[in-house]
Amino acid sequence: MKRIAVLASGQGTNLEAILEAVERDEISGRVVLVLSDREKAAALERARRRGIEALYLDPRPYRERAAYDRALLEPLQRSRCELVVLAGFMRLLSPVLLEAFPNRVMNIHPALLPSFPGTAGVEEALAYGVKVSGCTVHFVDGGLDTGPVILQEAVPVLQDDTVELLRGRIQAAEHRLYPRAIELYCRDQLRVKGRRCLIETG
Ligand code: GRF
Repeated sequence: MKRIAVLASGQGTNLEAILEAVERDEISGRVVLVLSDREKAAALERARRRGIEALYLDPRPYRERAAYDRALLEPLQRSRCELVVLAGFMRLLSPVLLEAFPNRVMNIHPALLPSFPGTAGVEEALAYGVKVSGCTVHFVDGGLDTGPVILQEAVPVLQDDTVELLRGRIQAAEHRLYPRAIELYCRDQLRVKGRRCLIETG
C-alpha cells in the first residue's frame, strides 16, 4: 500500500475522485495527508470528513517559494508519503520540494499538453478554436506544466461549448484519468526515460 499525499487549493473534486477510487480498491494505496494553501479549500473538508489528516499552511508569512516549500516538506516527510499528488494546487513548486520527491510528484492539467499550459488551459483552448482538448496527468519538473506525460485523455470541443461546459466535460475525464495514473504509480508500472514516461505492462 503506497502512502499518498494530496496538495489542493480549491474544490477538491479530483481529490474526491481519488478518495472514491481508493474506497473502491481501484488504487493500491491510501491518502494519508491533504495539504492546502487555502484555509477554506473544500478539499480539506472532504479529507476531514473521512478522518484523513488535513492541514492548512498559510503561505503569506513566507517571502520565498522555497521557504514555503520547506514548510510543506515537514508534514509531507512526517506522513511518510511516497507520492505527492497535486490536485488543483495553485502554486509552482520549487526545487526544494521536487528534489525531495524526484519523479514522485504528479499534476493534472485541463488541456492536452504541451498545448495550453498555465492557469487558463480551458479558456485558451476554447478561444483558440481547437476541435479537441482534454486533460493530461504528468510528473512535475521545474517548469510550468512541462514534466513527462503519464496519461492523456482527449475531450471533443463542441460547437456550442462555453468555458463552463467544456470544463465540466474535461473534469469528468480528469476524474477517470487521475486515479488510473495513480494506480499505475502504486503498482510500480511507470518508468521515466528522459522526457518519456513508459508504462510497463504484465
Ligand atoms: C482541475 O481542473 C485541474 O485540471 C486543475 O485544477 C482543477 C482542480 O479542480 N489543475 P478540483 O479542485 O480538483 O475540483
